[in-house]
Amino acid sequence: MIQKREHWGSRMGFILAASGSAVGIGNIWKYPSIAGQNGGAAFTLVYLACILVVGLSIVIAEFVIGRNTQLSPVGAFEKLAPNTSWKWVGFLGVGSAFAILSFYGVVGGWIFKYIIMSLTGGFDTLAGSPDTAGNVFNTFITGLWAPVFYQVIFMTVCIWVIIHGVKGGIEKWSKIMMPLIIILLAVLAVRGMTLPGGSEGLAFLFNPRFEELTASGIVLALGHAFFTLSLGMGTMITYGSYLGKKENLLNSALWVIFLDTAIAMLAGVAIFTTVFALGANPAEGPGLIFVVLPSVFPQLAGGTVWGTMFFILLFMAALTSAISILEVVTAYFIDQKGWSRKKATIRFGAVITVVGAFCSFSLGGGINITGIFGISFFDFMDGLSSKYMLPIGGMFTAIFILKKWGIPNFINELKNGMDHFNVPPALIRTLLTIGAAVVAFIIFNEIYAVFAGKALIG
Ligand code: TRP
Repeated sequence: MIQKREHWGSRMGFILAASGSAVGIGNIWKYPSIAGQNGGAAFTLVYLACILVVGLSIVIAEFVIGRNTQLSPVGAFEKLAPNTSWKWVGFLGVGSAFAILSFYGVVGGWIFKYIIMSLTGGFDTLAGSPDTAGNVFNTFITGLWAPVFYQVIFMTVCIWVIIHGVKGGIEKWSKIMMPLIIILLAVLAVRGMTLPGGSEGLAFLFNPRFEELTASGIVLALGHAFFTLSLGMGTMITYGSYLGKKENLLNSALWVIFLDTAIAMLAGVAIFTTVFALGANPAEGPGLIFVVLPSVFPQLAGGTVWGTMFFILLFMAALTSAISILEVVTAYFIDQKGWSRKKATIRFGAVITVVGAFCSFSLGGGINITGIFGISFFDFMDGLSSKYMLPIGGMFTAIFILKKWGIPNFINELKNGMDHFNVPPALIRTLLTIGAAVVAFIIFNEIYAVFAGKALIG
């Protein structure tokens, strides 16, 4: 069955949807904590360089492949290189989407639970006591059904948006949620900066401390640049496939990386000014969001409002990202199998929710499958996707353009929508080569670490 391809309704809608994919849990909890821990502005400089050199070129590469073929990853590679193995890069993307969304949905559920908890005054008893907050969090996530219950709610909202289509679902909700995320974060950042002592948080985040920047910090910056821009699994190919020829892809990609970076920094300001003003310890990772912040917010006047605002904006950020991940799977079944959008989304949304429930169970909810992988199934899915599948996907995307499709074809497509701009082929070749090489190094470093017990760098 041939269906007419859906398209974005407006250029702004596309940019907000693509940046909605990029802006996610990664921006709000990961960037601030790794920047703070690895030299502040010294880390941020390296990170910006990675975003501009590696990130920008691969975002554009994905947009170009998607728009040219008007297909999601598997179909796209098959169309540009028929009867070759290149379509496996597309399948790898669909597989990565399964792996990422299974645990991402669980975290989405935790966020929803924390909105409810904050609204109902559940943070009040945690004021000033990260230890109690830590116990509450651990008891919750290691429970059997409660986390799964919230995960199902998160996934249902995600499925519901996607069923409404590219324009009527993804675009419509991105246009509502992205501005809200920015406004709420800005309010929280101003609140934080006006707290006495808040500026210490700014120093933690923005003072360049080059002596703290290590080789492993640099590798971290590279890996994060990749994850935060949603690269390597064909998300941007899929979103690009709903574009028409008039769009200027360079300009759109610059908007996406600008919004992604600006929001990550704003999140850093909002979080660290508040944490430092109250003399709390800036923990890393999930602890910062689910343990430190719930113990800090109730110490502020109007704490319920600030806490609820924070978790609502985090929920929206997670949702727009989760949508982009599920859309890769949905688009595969629509494009390659001729399924209806509704059938594809519901079936595979449900399958991913069930796999995700096992991620949640593996944290302690009674079903122990940790023994099989040596680590919890949750960490296994996380590590497998972000350390291996995404970088491998991104590397092959760059190699595909360099070696198979060819720079001239790539430039012909890129030029649509940017009439008076001459794209120098040598520049494209250099950027994609650097991108592929750098990612290859990250993958090698990971694999080396598994076998040698210690990373080459990091
Ligand atoms: N970029 C998102 C974040 O920062 C996560 C994400 C969404 C993602 N879609 C993706 C990561 C696709 C890799 C690939 O949280």
